[in-house]
Amino acid sequence: MSGKSALITGITGQDGPYLAKLLLDKGYRVHGLIARRASDNQWRLRELGIAGEIKFIDGDLTDASSLIRAVNLAKPDEFYNLAAQSFVAASWDQPLLTATVNGLAVTHCLEALRQFSPHTRFYQASTSEMFGLIQAERQDEKTPFYPRSPYGVAKLYGHWITVNYRESFGLHASSGILFNHESPLRGIEFVTRKVTDAVARIKLGSQRELRLGNIDAKRDWGFAGDYVEAMWLMLQQDQADDYVIATGVTTTVRDMCRIAFRHVDLEMDDYLVIDPKFFRPAEVEVLLGNPAKARAKLGWAPKTSLEQLIGAMVDADLRRVAAELQARVTA
Ligand code: NAP
Ligand code: GDD
Repeated sequence: MSGKSALITGITGQDGPYLAKLLLDKGYRVHGLIARRASDNQWRLRELGIAGEIKFIDGDLTDASSLIRAVNLAKPDEFYNLAAQSFVAASWDQPLLTATVNGLAVTHCLEALRQFSPHTRFYQASTSEMFGLIQAERQDEKTPFYPRSPYGVAKLYGHWITVNYRESFGLHASSGILFNHESPLRGIEFVTRKVTDAVARIKLGSQRELRLGNIDAKRDWGFAGDYVEAMWLMLQQDQADDYVIATGVTTTVRDMCRIAFRHVDLEMDDYLVIDPKFFRPAEVEVLLGNPAKARAKLGWAPKTSLEQLIGAMVDADLRRVAAELQARVTA
């Protein structure tokens, strides 16, 4: 068992609980920065059965003093910065918030480490959204960036400030350029979970149609549980570096959706409605990653196919929706 200490921001999101579970299983003490919210935000930690094992520290990424406090309390060997306003569509409505949390606040994390804990290894959650209007058919660590959303622009700042603190101050700071990754813990606003939740509701008779935007968009989708392993591997290397994490397979939203409907023996075309309300001001039409460097240097490879992933998500939503409908009957 490692006996190490880790600090995770974004502990209540999709990736935070999977990463926390991985670290707990390796014997880490796991601290989670938790932002104050009016409603419950710990359901994912409960679903993985680890809510009671996390040492929570109150704080917000936009409050630099709370990050300094968190670093001083957790004394982390490893700091994973997963917190973000991560919904691309919302970044056009809240561009300044997105820039502050996803961009500037990364410097809050790095400064807390530079000044108070320079030995701590740092992981920054960068994104394939930075490739945006793609400049190469398959994107790798050398592909030029061309972000297409306020989200992507803000994340680009977070990426480069991480590289800069590594080069300027010798911090062990790595940036994981992760392509889309999903799971049964995915937020309902993202397209895969929106689809699997709708498929479950349609199958169980509580919804009649599914309304989507641009179904021609293509994404390189993997499983979040596989991807958090890559985050950890990056921080175990002697040298900090940047890595693309992807499956190397791209699929249209349309085909992903069809997989979900077929999983419950339904035909997508009977239920799908295109609604321009979900089109974006500027779209990332296609993403396709090349994870060769991660495979060679980290020994990392994805383990889960899109069919397995979407099947597991639909099954989880069937269980949730059935429980919800049952609760309504007995209430
Ligand atoms: P997510 O489910 O949206 O989780 C975001 C987390 O950030 C939540 O725990 C949220 O807390 C927290 N947060 C938001 N604003 C905060 C603030 N001001 N202070 C402190 N915490 C704050 O995102 P995810 O899918 O787990 O993704 C994790 C990270 O990877 C994000 O940075 C995302 O941009 C990046 N990324 C994700 C993907 C992907 O496909 N999932 C791909 C590439 C990169 P509340 O729960 O309290 O709101
Ligand atoms: N959310 C959503 N809802 N997306 C839709 C819909 C819809 O009704 N209809 C079509 N889409 C299309 C979007 O236009 C986009 O092209 C694609 O489905 C994927 O959308 P999201 O699932 O919202 O993910 P994203 O690719 O914009 O962003 C996710 O991946 C990034 C990595 O590339 C997020 O997790 C980001 O935080 C992450 O950085």
